[in-house]
Amino acid sequence: MTSPAATVHVDLPGRAYDIHIGPDLLAQAGAYIAPLGGRKHVAIVTDKTVAGLHLKTLQDGLAQAGLTSEALALPAGEATKGWPQLQCTCEWLLDQKVERGDVVIAFGGGVIGDLVGFAAAILRRGVRFVQIPTTLLAQVDSSVGGKTGINARHGKNLIGAFHQPSLVLADTALLGTLQPRDFLAGYGEVVKYGLLGDSAFFDWLEKLGPAMAAGDMDARVQAVTRSVQMKADIVQRDETEQGDRALLNLGHTFCHALEAATGYSDRLLHGEGVAIGCGMAFELSARMGLCSQENPSRVREHIRSMGMKVDLRDIDGDLPDAEALLALMGQDKKVVAGKLRFILARDIGDAFITSEVPRDKVLGVLKDALAER
Ligand code: GLY
Repeated sequence: MTSPAATVHVDLPGRAYDIHIGPDLLAQAGAYIAPLGGRKHVAIVTDKTVAGLHLKTLQDGLAQAGLTSEALALPAGEATKGWPQLQCTCEWLLDQKVERGDVVIAFGGGVIGDLVGFAAAILRRGVRFVQIPTTLLAQVDSSVGGKTGINARHGKNLIGAFHQPSLVLADTALLGTLQPRDFLAGYGEVVKYGLLGDSAFFDWLEKLGPAMAAGDMDARVQAVTRSVQMKADIVQRDETEQGDRALLNLGHTFCHALEAATGYSDRLLHGEGVAIGCGMAFELSARMGLCSQENPSRVREHIRSMGMKVDLRDIDGDLPDAEALLALMGQDKKVVAGKLRFILARDIGDAFITSEVPRDKVLGVLKDALAER
């Protein structure tokens, strides 16, 4: 087994695990997973798109370490993150005779990671699972930190559990098969890390973001590693989001309203909404006198220069008015005791959590953004 390009350790008591990052880890998956123990037969849950592209490489990699495997390939897409597919996954894992000591592999993007992680959390009151994230968004965010769950008709991610993986293998070569739009949506979450806590990382992204998007593997490894390290540090401080973990929601209060307004459809991908939401969070911060006026311009300029959506006018079709968008924010699960919680910023790389945000300031940001359409 060759060493991964980078490893980040998540040091949670009794639930510590490694995140290995680098190209071509999939072909060595068996060497990483076999030491976890359990039966020599592993269950893989994936989606049909990922299965078509990468399942054989994973199964060959497992076989090299003497692990046989069986795979369930679910339909790709957000609709898979619901009760019917959870039931199907749990029953299939039981059919596979997965036991407490075994390891289940979640092989795909955020939908598969969240669904399979939740199935692992509740199957036999908890079995171990390995995340093999195949999208940039899943590599830098959803595969790390143990948030698992499915959507309800009331909203996204409302049924779930904290259940940490036993290992994460982030194979950066897999990012080469993503559609450019999907890659850039994941980049929205990468930018978020620079904006919330590391201005030097944001400077670096301004310089190397384009090379990273064009396929520069060193840049991809460095960006994924820095993002994951920041997330691991936050999760170690606050695993269950009693405090600091909410910083990871920079841009998300605006994003969730926009996602709801666009019906969680292709009109706006989650990471695109995060990028737009980060611009709006900085705009709100500037209007509240918390950060300089240059900050929101600089944030938006970088997002635009990457060829991403940055303003509400970049979202096709109608949007509700500002009052209706504000009401959609009120349905966000980040509402605490009826008060909206925002992540605002004093500067690039210096975000903080607050519920003290005047309603008229938020409305002003939304109204002006809608007026530009
Ligand atoms: N995606 C935000 C978190 O994991 O807390």
